[in-house]
Amino acid sequence: MMQVFTTISATRDYRATLGPLALVPTMGALHAGHLSLVTEAHRQASAVAVSIFVNPTQFGPNEDFSRYPRPMEQDLEMCRQAGVDFVFHPAPAEMYRPGLPEIRVDLPGLTTVLEGAHRPGHFSGVCQVVAKLFNIVRPDVACFGRKDFQQLRVLSAMVEALDWPIEMIACPILRDPDGLAMSSRNRYLSADERRRALTINQAIFAAEKSVRLGHRDAAGLIESVREQLLASGLAIDYVAIVDALTLEPQNHLTVPAVLAIAVRVGTTRLIDNITLLPPLS
Ligand code: PAJ
Repeated sequence: MMQVFTTISATRDYRATLGPLALVPTMGALHAGHLSLVTEAHRQASAVAVSIFVNPTQFGPNEDFSRYPRPMEQDLEMCRQAGVDFVFHPAPAEMYRPGLPEIRVDLPGLTTVLEGAHRPGHFSGVCQVVAKLFNIVRPDVACFGRKDFQQLRVLSAMVEALDWPIEMIACPILRDPDGLAMSSRNRYLSADERRRALTINQAIFAAEKSVRLGHRDAAGLIESVREQLLASGLAIDYVAIVDALTLEPQNHLTVPAVLAIAVRVGTTRLIDNITLLPPLS
């Protein structure tokens, strides 16, 4: 029987009865991308927890916090079907109790670029909530998607810098059959917007192919991607080729390189990325 907890104390008590645990932190509105993390979590540990919490502190004042989808019953059913042991689904007032001091968890070297440059305070909110989730749920393993590539890098760096005994697992990006990266925000798109959004994945796959054929000039690759996005009427927040670890921009491609994109399609903001040169392992 899957358990659902809304309080920190009940979650702590139940967690104490379990052995090795893998956690999949989410904001709900679950899709197959989230479920692929749950599948990986089952491979990693004997017990699996999912947190569902639309975290107010990672949304900017003009972002979609209030309209973010919250199909709770459907999410719980998907978790049940996926064999999740327990779901932690707190109310904002449980996580951010009145009277708690303001706290900022930040890694300025990694959070002032890309998403961080366009969403001030976003990663501070992400780090704050994930730090709390880690302390409440005490997982041995945590699974995150490469879809949010910078988030994964920032959180892995947080775990490393704070000596957290948690293994961070990076999971591949799941895409719809037409190539669009799955996202809870895709449900905001009209049919026409969705069609135009496909340029995102088409452009990054074309760039990856150029790199496979030997192209190493970052500026040329970026220009080509930008042209394709603009031709489809997408508003570009950024198109960048960065070092996958430091997130510093690259001119001449070197290992490990990632191409990251953020665009707006109408009022919906979408991100995607692709590894151009994987790290040497
Ligand atoms: P959310 O956007 O719900 O995503 C939860 C997890 O699912 C993240 O690790 C994300 O990278 C992963 N994910 C989303 N779409 C995916 C896809 N198409 N393929 C693979 N993985 C995918 O990210 C957050 O929530 C929040 O910032 C959170 C970490 C929960 C903190 O509030």
